[in-house]
Amino acid sequence: MTDSSELEPGTAGAAPAQSGHHNLDPHLNRYAARTAGMTASEIRALFAVASRPEVVSLAGGMPNLAALPLDTLSTQMAELIAEDGLVALQYGSAHGVPALREQICEVMAMEGISAHPDDVVVTVGSQMGLDMVTRLFCDPGDVVIAEGPSYVGALGSFAAYQAQVVHVAMDENGLDPAGLTEALTQAGRQGKRVKFLYTIPNFHNPAGVTLAVNRRAEILEICARHGVLVVEDNPYGLLGFDGQTYPALRASDPDNVVYLGSFSKTFASGLRVGWVLAPHAVKEKLVLAAESATLCPPTLNQLVVSRYLATHDWKGQIKTFRENYRERRDAIIGALEQHMPAGCSWTKPDGGFYVWVTVPEGVDTKAMLPRAVTARVAYASGTGFYADGFGSRQMRLSYCYPTPERIREGVRRLASVLESEMDLMRTFGNVTTRAVSGPQSPSPDTA
Ligand SMILES: Cc1ncc(COP(=O)(O)O)c(C=O)c1O
Repeated sequence: MTDSSELEPGTAGAAPAQSGHHNLDPHLNRYAARTAGMTASEIRALFAVASRPEVVSLAGGMPNLAALPLDTLSTQMAELIAEDGLVALQYGSAHGVPALREQICEVMAMEGISAHPDDVVVTVGSQMGLDMVTRLFCDPGDVVIAEGPSYVGALGSFAAYQAQVVHVAMDENGLDPAGLTEALTQAGRQGKRVKFLYTIPNFHNPAGVTLAVNRRAEILEICARHGVLVVEDNPYGLLGFDGQTYPALRASDPDNVVYLGSFSKTFASGLRVGWVLAPHAVKEKLVLAAESATLCPPTLNQLVVSRYLATHDWKGQIKTFRENYRERRDAIIGALEQHMPAGCSWTKPDGGFYVWVTVPEGVDTKAMLPRAVTARVAYASGTGFYADGFGSRQMRLSYCYPTPERIREGVRRLASVLESEMDLMRTFGNVTTRAVSGPQSPSPDTA
């Protein structure tokens, strides 16, 4: 089955981008200046074609929910309404349901975090956490340091608050500490105010890499030395294919790390339940920001998650998810090895949803995308994951949703589109066939 659920979060059911209609907008002169940074993602523009059943979509990051125990959940929800309906259907506090905040602390303990439920603020997905943290800390022109590439939704929030993003490269061990120091030093020299480092340490979206454990203390030390807060975004941390977890940055620096968590990838993304664990001093402002955004997160959804955690083998369920994703990761890596033309390279994720592919010099993944969709395969082109136009030689492939067979077929189609593209470019003499150096480097494409 291929439907909206193979596409990017936030695009399900969305209309295709109406870029041609901008000039007709009678409100054009009324919008706040910050809306200039709000643009539709590339995959959204391709929504109508990419959602056709014959297209294998490796573009979206939709979790595969097929393994959820829907019968049990529907019984639980019915019981919840019957037993506790007047609470579940009522407003709650902006801080979140207390019992759930306690359970969230137990979830975070799996990655070494020892937290007090008071410092947890429940959000409508971690996307809301990102928006609130940016709102709290960033004035227009302030700098946010982020890995290059970085999560599209975070870049969207930073743009919406007119923050300037400075990317720091990664290698197969995640964010490069030397690059971070250099970016911070340079921003200081230019008199820029760096507000925070935004980092996805585990099973990165889109790069698929994980920050090496021995780099973690160093990254924290560099940020502390430069007086910069760390925003740690960790929705995939429990999806390590061998059941491995890594120590959260927040675990060793509670006063300087804002931690974002989510039940979207480990339970159900549609419930939109995430959280922020803030340094104690920041929590009060976060609650006020949450209150002005939504009054309170949905009580019903919080109680559903809370009941699920209390009564279901949620760790066993995560194990099932991990096994499904590992099977798909194996399918995509095997297919890439079998089909991709020489000169391409890719990362090899140990968890999460994504592979980051680098294609030979001269191929532009954004320009190639319509041809790929015509060949019935979709991917997310690399430029969307940078705030500064890099990434034209990269693409993100998501293996989380399609079946292993569909993944293999999608990669076969993609490889053949790439072959034709390279043939064409060889004919015009502007593509080199030498191997791309650094086999798994997701660093910026400066070519
Ligand atoms: C790195 C990262 N952060 C945050 C989010 C948003 O997740 P949520 O569903 O909790 O809003 C995503 C979703 O894909 C993500 O990949």
